[in-house]
Amino acid sequence: MNDFETKNYFNQLAEKWDQHPIEPDKDDQLLQILNRLQIQSNARILDAGCGTGRLFHLIRAVIAKNTPFYAMDYAFLMTQQAKKKKAQPIYPICGDVQRLPIKDNQFNIILAFGLFPHIQEPKSALIEFRRILKKNGKLAIFHLKGSRSLNQFHHQLGGVVRDHFLPSLKEMHILFHEAGLKVDISEDLPDKFLCVGIKE
Ligand SMILES: C[S@@+](CC[C@H](N)C(=O)[O-])C[C@H]1O[C@@H](n2cnc3c(N)ncnc32)[C@H](O)[C@@H]1O
Repeated sequence: MNDFETKNYFNQLAEKWDQHPIEPDKDDQLLQILNRLQIQSNARILDAGCGTGRLFHLIRAVIAKNTPFYAMDYAFLMTQQAKKKKAQPIYPICGDVQRLPIKDNQFNIILAFGLFPHIQEPKSALIEFRRILKKNGKLAIFHLKGSRSLNQFHHQLGGVVRDHFLPSLKEMHILFHEAGLKVDISEDLPDKFLCVGIKE
């Protein structure tokens, strides 16, 4: 995997990314996931790998109206699309989750939706996520496919994402442990992957 190619790949997809919006029932599934994280209305949230901001309206639904939230993606053109969204976060920052330009202990919740298989150095990203989480803060890695079907999907797409793999839960637990995160929720179902870690 190569960050330069991955970034280019998503930059090229940015303009058309929202042409296949998430169906309403998927929105419900995503909201259920957010609700399971027991997010406080004033929580500081980072949407990591936010893409065009497909989660923004759902994040807005679970926090108080005047609570800002934060979003980041390393594909500049994705962040440009995200800036057009209502339900604005603090402007989406263009940045790399493997080297976060953020001080320690800042966030209660980090959401990583659809991000993890595309990260070149997953261990570095997890260490960075832990660093910027506050004590008892949560990292949620989630997908609307299980690891098996997601990995098949990327493989069939071919090209840059052909070998972008989501680890199994067993491998994810090891990665969490190495990064100093305690596993809180861990599910790999046909239509959902959810792995939540806590910084104790
Ligand atoms: C499959 S898209 C998901 C985007 C969005 N979360 C969604 O569901 O629509 C993956 C996103 O992760 C971003 N990404 C991949 N590696 C990254 C990294 N190291 N740092 C920041 N963003 C990254 C890509 O640019 C892309 O926008």
